[in-house]
Amino acid sequence: MSSPSLPGAHGTGTPHPAKALPSSGLSGRVRVPGDKSVSHRALILGALSHGETRISGLLEGEDVLNTAKACAALGATVERLGEGEWRVEGVGVGGFREPEAALDFGNSGTGVRLMMGAVAGNPIAATFDGDASLRKRPMRRVLDPLAAMGVAQLSSAEGGRLPLRLQGLADLSAFTYETPVPSAQVKSAVLLAGLAAAGETVVREREATRDHTERMLTHFGADVRVEPFGPHGRTITLKGRPNLTGAPVVVPSDPSSAAFPLVAAILVPGSDIVITDMMMNPLRIGLVTTLREMGADIAILAERTEGGEAVADIRVRHSALKGVEVPAERAPAMIDEYPILAVAAAFAEGPTVMRGLAELRVKESDRLTAVADGLAACGIAHTVEGDDLIVAGGGVVQGGGPVATHMDHRIAMAFLILGLASREGVSIDDTTFIATSFPTFMPMMRGLGARID
Ligand code: S3P
Repeated sequence: MSSPSLPGAHGTGTPHPAKALPSSGLSGRVRVPGDKSVSHRALILGALSHGETRISGLLEGEDVLNTAKACAALGATVERLGEGEWRVEGVGVGGFREPEAALDFGNSGTGVRLMMGAVAGNPIAATFDGDASLRKRPMRRVLDPLAAMGVAQLSSAEGGRLPLRLQGLADLSAFTYETPVPSAQVKSAVLLAGLAAAGETVVREREATRDHTERMLTHFGADVRVEPFGPHGRTITLKGRPNLTGAPVVVPSDPSSAAFPLVAAILVPGSDIVITDMMMNPLRIGLVTTLREMGADIAILAERTEGGEAVADIRVRHSALKGVEVPAERAPAMIDEYPILAVAAAFAEGPTVMRGLAELRVKESDRLTAVADGLAACGIAHTVEGDDLIVAGGGVVQGGGPVATHMDHRIAMAFLILGLASREGVSIDDTTFIATSFPTFMPMMRGLGARID
């Protein structure tokens, strides 16, 4: 595989602290990098197809580059043609070769969990590993359904954690599974494994989660049926052993990355920015809904469909916010946006109540605790009650730090944004992990006028 070289293994390098200083009047027009979820899936489905997949706008963050390396180690041809332009020559469902070394997914839960599903339907053994953050995260949520389909777990660290070694099978059993947690990664792992099963694999989720796997499987030629399940859920049915054919993929901009300049513009006085080409998949834009309920001035311009996903340009202006209650059922549509919403809530008039955040505890860090501790380090009143976070609000934020980021890119970016709108600035202990999802974050924010040292 030819790709940009990666910085040293994370977690072992020297931390890079930073401080965000009070700023004013952010302005400009930016396009954030490609969507992380779509980027992982484009590479994986490209590797599982016959023929060529051309990807444009691929996110060249560390998480996705690790998935690209894993696809190459499993026998696909993965080539970087230019900035964001990639070519994958796949080996077809069941065509992976046994990798010579452990597959290292760095910081990425999506990469490792989706690839466990993709590897499951091949008669090979593979070892999956990651950095210190990923080694702490739960893998049983994927291992259990894969075991029911016939995958053998050869070894693992305590509690089914990484590093772990799986033995796949060419002939998996089709399976019907109701996911016990609202997780697109679990759903996707089961569907990717289901590609190698004769018959129909069915996944039921009580709360609909991001549907990029379903959409892209259809795009690559699989037969996928999606039906409602209960008031908020879906049933996804995949016909096994499809003939997947390589297909072009245009990756839209990542709404979870756009969230940072978006909230920065709302909070920093005098700001007026445009974020172009942002993906508007309804299962990804719970933050926009919530911020608009809070009174944010967000105009959605030039709505269109590109590469099978809704996209739009977003104009965002500085706005006064009021606290709201965010219902638990909205969590899957904004699961990665709670750290930055908690930051916005600190500037709102009145409390913001965020319900049903249990899944935040198993992200790149225990994000509920990391957010609460970061708010405390900046003097922001809040409480955690069970799985709910309540930020008192009040408008004036003194700032402080250093905020501990716990190898978590979104904690790092969220608290830098907080610093821009604070009285005295906010320091964080490490910016290293921002490169996992948003390698251009620092220059892009500075280009908008943000003061970050
Ligand atoms: C993702 C799913 C979500 C999200 C993650 C990306 C995906 O995780 O937090 O950043 O691409 O499927 P869960 O499935 O664990 O909720």
